[in-house]
Amino acid sequence: MIAIVGAGVSGLAIGWRLAQAGRTVTAIDRGPAGRGASWAAAGMLAPQVEAEPGEEALLPLLLESRDMWAAFAAELQSATGIGVGYRTEGTLVVALDRDDREKLRFRYDYLLGLGLDLEWLAGAEARRREPHLARGVTAAVWSPKDHQVDNRRLVEALRAAFAAAGGTLIEHAPVEEILHDGARVAGVRVADRTIPAETVIVAAGAWSRNLGGLPDAARPPVRPVKGQMLALAMDPAEPLIERVVWGPDVYLVPRRDGRLVVGATVEEMGFDTRLTGGGMFELLRAAWETLPGIYDLPLVESWAGLRPASRDDAPILGPTEIEGLVMATGHHRNGILLTPVTGAAIARLVLDGTAPPSIRPFSLARFAAKGEDRIGPRNRAAPVSESA
Ligand code: GLY
Repeated sequence: MIAIVGAGVSGLAIGWRLAQAGRTVTAIDRGPAGRGASWAAAGMLAPQVEAEPGEEALLPLLLESRDMWAAFAAELQSATGIGVGYRTEGTLVVALDRDDREKLRFRYDYLLGLGLDLEWLAGAEARRREPHLARGVTAAVWSPKDHQVDNRRLVEALRAAFAAAGGTLIEHAPVEEILHDGARVAGVRVADRTIPAETVIVAAGAWSRNLGGLPDAARPPVRPVKGQMLALAMDPAEPLIERVVWGPDVYLVPRRDGRLVVGATVEEMGFDTRLTGGGMFELLRAAWETLPGIYDLPLVESWAGLRPASRDDAPILGPTEIEGLVMATGHHRNGILLTPVTGAAIARLVLDGTAPPSIRPFSLARFAAKGEDRIGPRNRAAPVSESA
């Protein structure tokens, strides 16, 4: 028996793979499945434009998962009949004045040095590709391999695939305690019920650190990083943009149904998910400066989510000192992108007893090894500015 604490996209993808392999799996979520960071996300699959100095060791894992996405989306569709809106039009990062242009050029040179597939465009060429961009666009970086998926459809598809493969889902049930004897995991306690398990996988996002029963050595250093977002409604027959667009302080993600997802703030506010006037104002201002046509669009939704950020902003994937207790958390800005590799690699670890090489650098043990043994920078900035 395997228990997965947290039924977001990571927990469901791991559960799906393990159930497909014939294992008995129960995923338990404190709320409805997939309604935390998985639901709040924008669905960008953007290892190239989101790559940051200091995270070079994380890049191969991001690219590996990016390369799994087309087959993963197709497999989910054939397993469930649910399309996840995987789109491959690419991503454009635009500069709006000379200052932005210089910053973008500096980033571009850095990203090219990592061997990434990017192209520098003049402002006029960027506007030829996306005619509704602001007239003042001075330059852009074109990233053909940064794609997107509709993360909410992904939640629905993974939930259906997990159930169809025989997985059990328990919702609205906070896990109160991870049960173990100090050496080996024994299960979880949910309200007045004990669920015995020889493997327990912690995939509880921002809540992973606070789970009861975890010994200090197996407590993942994960904190919530708030992101406020909003959605506008475009005419699906005449969308303002076809590609994902990053402007200074904002990203804009067009969906096929006309929804335009606008994000996101990056705030250290604990578990506070309230929307603020300032957060909404800054997003709308930055979106309008990049794509003036949004001014007239209906505002259809606003929300905030909590990114699960680890101490070095890289995910925590792999075994712990407690036998049978496995971590799959701390995905921070890359949870949707890393879903295929997290599902496959953690399932492999459970089935074979060995972590695949690509996730070995990301075990919890890296934090215990020495305080400064870090995969990436302590506070990661957005591609073009601090607040996107
Ligand atoms: N990956 C986008 C965000 O975290 O806002």
